[in-house]
Amino acid sequence: MNFSKEEYWNDIDSRLKTLVSKGFVKLPPLNEFGLERVADDILNDMGGNTFKELCSPHEKFLKNIGVNEFLTPKLYDLAREKFGFDGDISNQYHVSRKVEPGNSKEMYRAHFDSHLFTMVLPIKIPKPTNDGSAGELIYFPNARKFPHSEISNFIGKLYHKRFASKEGIERLSSKKSMITDNFLDFSPLLFIGNTTLHTNKQVTSDCSSYRLTCLAHFFDPSPKYGIGGILRAIRSR
Ligand SMILES: [Fe+2]
Repeated sequence: MNFSKEEYWNDIDSRLKTLVSKGFVKLPPLNEFGLERVADDILNDMGGNTFKELCSPHEKFLKNIGVNEFLTPKLYDLAREKFGFDGDISNQYHVSRKVEPGNSKEMYRAHFDSHLFTMVLPIKIPKPTNDGSAGELIYFPNARKFPHSEISNFIGKLYHKRFASKEGIERLSSKKSMITDNFLDFSPLLFIGNTTLHTNKQVTSDCSSYRLTCLAHFFDPSPKYGIGGILRAIRSR
């Protein structure tokens, strides 16, 4: 393997400019990082769960590709300079998500994240054998304006609940630009988590295998002025 993590991130500055201007950006493919092995190791750790927060093979993978070395510090600077984030660099949430063919729950659950930045890292992506779907990500960049308060965040989330179904997504796609990514290029997607409405199609039962992604969430601004924080402040008077 003559591909280093340094090389992987060598054009990250220009990619981050795209992230800010368009609300999303793709990263180079991960094929050189032994994804088959990573998938096996994470799967082992997950057991029968759909979600698992940062298990050790997941952590090792992020280290191997150099996320904390080459990406996180730059995202942190962006968060502070462009999005007024004043929390800690350790404010992150990493979770692996595994969906088995035929799972009828993990689809069309359209939502915004509370974190500023979300990265989807494809680890194992199945192919449907008939005309099914393989859990493709559907996303709407800039589906809403950046929420400047917890109240506007809450109202925006509530309003968009109406799109959390297949029919809702179809309705929204006639008004806003929709992108579908099957991740068969094994290129991660980085997007502004709290302004990009996103969801997945079903992993249908004709798929060749489970679908595994590592999801990285960076910097949740809500604790500072969140509804939880306000309630705590009132109680402590
Ligand atoms: Fe999400």
